[in-house]
Amino acid sequence: MSSKQYFGEVARQWDEMRESFFSEAVREKAISLAGAESGELAADIGAGTGFITEGLMQKGLRVIAVDQSASMLKEMGEKFQGVDTIDYRLGEAENLPIEDNVVDHVFANMYLHHVENPPVAIKEMARILKPGGRLVITDLDEHSFDFLKREHHDRWMGFKREDVQRWFSAAGLKEVVVDCVGEDCCAPSSCGDEYASVSIFLASGKK
Ligand SMILES: C[S@@+](CC[C@H](N)C(=O)[O-])C[C@H]1O[C@@H](n2cnc3c(N)ncnc32)[C@H](O)[C@@H]1O
Repeated sequence: MSSKQYFGEVARQWDEMRESFFSEAVREKAISLAGAESGELAADIGAGTGFITEGLMQKGLRVIAVDQSASMLKEMGEKFQGVDTIDYRLGEAENLPIEDNVVDHVFANMYLHHVENPPVAIKEMARILKPGGRLVITDLDEHSFDFLKREHHDRWMGFKREDVQRWFSAAGLKEVVVDCVGEDCCAPSSCGDEYASVSIFLASGKK
């Protein structure tokens, strides 16, 4: 099954699944680190059903929400019906449907461990940032729970923080910091014999 098919299948349940995995504190910390302000334009990459988009919208930002899965974007559209500050765009990690240097902030939550080539995805996210804008990624630290690959279609078993730091710098970003968000992502295996609890990192860099 492809990643697109997997997220197509879980789109309707995603909000409930997400709530059981991690809390809203993750997006609060990401948005506050970026210094996002009302009236600015942000991109939410791998937006899913809009976890990060919702936080940005509540702070008065306009959001371009990008995802490979039409089903995830459709769920988000139904949830935020009537909201005219979200621009939904179907797109892929290696070729984001956004021009160069146009957004004030880029966010990606729990997206990087699904993409085929994380350094390329980071470079592509840096491309769409205005000079002075910030890329903020929240994702999993390196772990050993391989049932997450089988059951949740994860491609990478988290990341070493030094790799993420290097990829941000290689994308031309400055003031790069990779730190703990202070929250874990938690999920039991389907047969109940394993329980993953993985710390979440918060990486940021300025263009
Ligand atoms: C684990 S979900 C996270 C969704 C959302 N950011 C959240 O925090 O709830 C990962 C999302 O990334 C999207 N995604 C995965 N690989 C992608 C790719 N190569 N290009 C674009 N989107 C991708 C999936 O379709 C899915 O909606």
